[in-house]
Amino acid sequence: MIAVYPGSFDPITLGHLDLIGRASRLFDRVIVAVLRNPNKMPLFSVQQRLEQISLSTQHLPNVEADSFDGLTINYAQIRQAQVLLRGLRAVSDFEIELQMAHTNKTLSTQIETVFLATSNEYSFLSSSVVKEIARFGGSVDHLVPPHIALDIYQCYNHNSPMLNPITTQAIPLKSMPMETPPEMLHDQQV
Ligand code: PNS
Repeated sequence: MIAVYPGSFDPITLGHLDLIGRASRLFDRVIVAVLRNPNKMPLFSVQQRLEQISLSTQHLPNVEADSFDGLTINYAQIRQAQVLLRGLRAVSDFEIELQMAHTNKTLSTQIETVFLATSNEYSFLSSSVVKEIARFGGSVDHLVPPHIALDIYQCYNHNSPMLNPITTQAIPLKSMPMETPPEMLHDQQV
């Protein structure tokens, strides 16, 4: 059985990766599918996100990274997937995810949405939380793989700021956080 795990993954977090690892044991193939979303101004380009995902999942032979445009259900059909995979962190996710699942069911009755509960330790974690912390100079070493943490620090122009991620000491920055977050400047910078 083939599962498509769609999302923005800007960037992929340890929470996403925990889900992918568990899904790789449930399905023959898991396709991590990055939406090319013209309405969003991402921190990382689609190509960068694909590389980040590929590197983070290279130990899982039945996982691949791909990107798509348009409707997720159309992409799933093209890839001959039977399942759309989504993670549920909390009740707050449920309403929007259920609406998405119902919408997708109206578009194809052949493809089922399967939810996996996020592991407890990652129930707070999102790509937005990671970017918010990094933007204000905090450490994200405990939230994303090391190579992605480096990518993020480069984007926000600071070094890994803390040895102990839960320290509350002042954070040494090469430069102060910018007024405009880098994801907003992305198109101009790259
Ligand atoms: O990581 P995200 O941003 O929560 O992922 C949301 C995503 C990409 C799964 C969702 O926005 C999506 O499927 N978009 C593609 C358009 C689509 O298929 N819409 C119909 C379902 S609501």
